[in-house]
Amino acid sequence: MLTQKVEKILVTQIEKEAYSSHLYLAMASWAENSGFEGTAQWLYAQSEEEHMHMLKFVAYINERGGKSIIPAIKQPPIDYADIRELFEQVYKHEKYISGSINEIVGICMEDKDYSTNNWIQWFVNEQIEEEKAVKTIIDKLNLIGAHSLYLFDKDIVSMRNTGTKV
Ligand code: FEO
Repeated sequence: MLTQKVEKILVTQIEKEAYSSHLYLAMASWAENSGFEGTAQWLYAQSEEEHMHMLKFVAYINERGGKSIIPAIKQPPIDYADIRELFEQVYKHEKYISGSINEIVGICMEDKDYSTNNWIQWFVNEQIEEEKAVKTIIDKLNLIGAHSLYLFDKDIVSMRNTGTKV
């Protein structure tokens, strides 16, 4: 059984994961319309991953006797100045999500909910991977000039196709 505090913060995370999925979907659409097909593919895949994250929270809360609440999702931004700004926003968002996952760990410790603490560790590791992947993309963007953006976009596709975790 979840404590009230643990249940409350897990329910809050459903909304954050749903928004992450929505945000990356909006970014994917922007990238597609801006001619960045590789980036769009990467973002569509990220959006699906975030949807899976949301489902994990819904299932876990219900499994542990809590009540999952499916929230309204706010509208993500529509436009980005350029591809660099877009990835900076992804990075900022993932750091924010890492912060909320760490808060969940903190509440689990406070309430001595070691089972949920154990369960949430998958997300702790996932966030390390996601931050690392986006940081790698930003580093690549910093290394290339604007004229090489086409090659960058192709490179992002190959990162997904070869199974590199991005
Ligand atoms: Fe599910 Fe990338 O946070």
